[in-house]
Amino acid sequence: MEQTEVMKPETLDDLIKVLHKIFESDNINVEEVQNIMEAYDSNPQEWMKFAKFDQFRYTRNLVDEGNGKFNLMILCWGEGHGSSIHDHTDSHCFMKLLQGQLKETLFEWPDKKTCNMVQKSQRILQTNQCAYINDSFGLHRVENASHTECSASLHLYSPPFNTCQTFDQRTGHKNTVKMTFWSKFGERTPFETTVSQENN
Ligand code: SIN
Repeated sequence: MEQTEVMKPETLDDLIKVLHKIFESDNINVEEVQNIMEAYDSNPQEWMKFAKFDQFRYTRNLVDEGNGKFNLMILCWGEGHGSSIHDHTDSHCFMKLLQGQLKETLFEWPDKKTCNMVQKSQRILQTNQCAYINDSFGLHRVENASHTECSASLHLYSPPFNTCQTFDQRTGHKNTVKMTFWSKFGERTPFETTVSQENN
């Protein structure tokens, strides 16, 4: 099989430049984006200024608005923090581990009649790995299962979105929630709640 050559971004700034270039096109090659994001060797000195942790819940910290084509953000997960089961609003979602580990649990869309939530798979993502999901894969929940270590992940959503649907694991009932940023470009966003979706 033909192998696409992966240019290795040496820094986070390099990675952002390459992403801008790739997303000039409307046809996104998922594997190319995933490979590029994976090829960046996480260097905390480059992303620390964006990584703002909260004691109680994971935070979403905007890094770059991708010329309106994508949102790039760093999510900071304290010990035991996790997201609700959620969809991805018809967007591509790339998730690269910058620090620590994250557990990703994948679910089927709930059955329309029974509303049952069925777990499809579970995996542990390691530092520098980059996962991908869209709505055709199902729904997922992400958790930092560690009781001693924080995690940080770099997420790219294209096109950007600011609401998603969350699902109750017991009943399959869904809610539309607004997603907010704890910080933008390294500065705390005032008057906004930190995140709108938490573990059920
Ligand atoms: C996740 O994939 O669990 C993070 C969702 C978010 O962007 O808040």
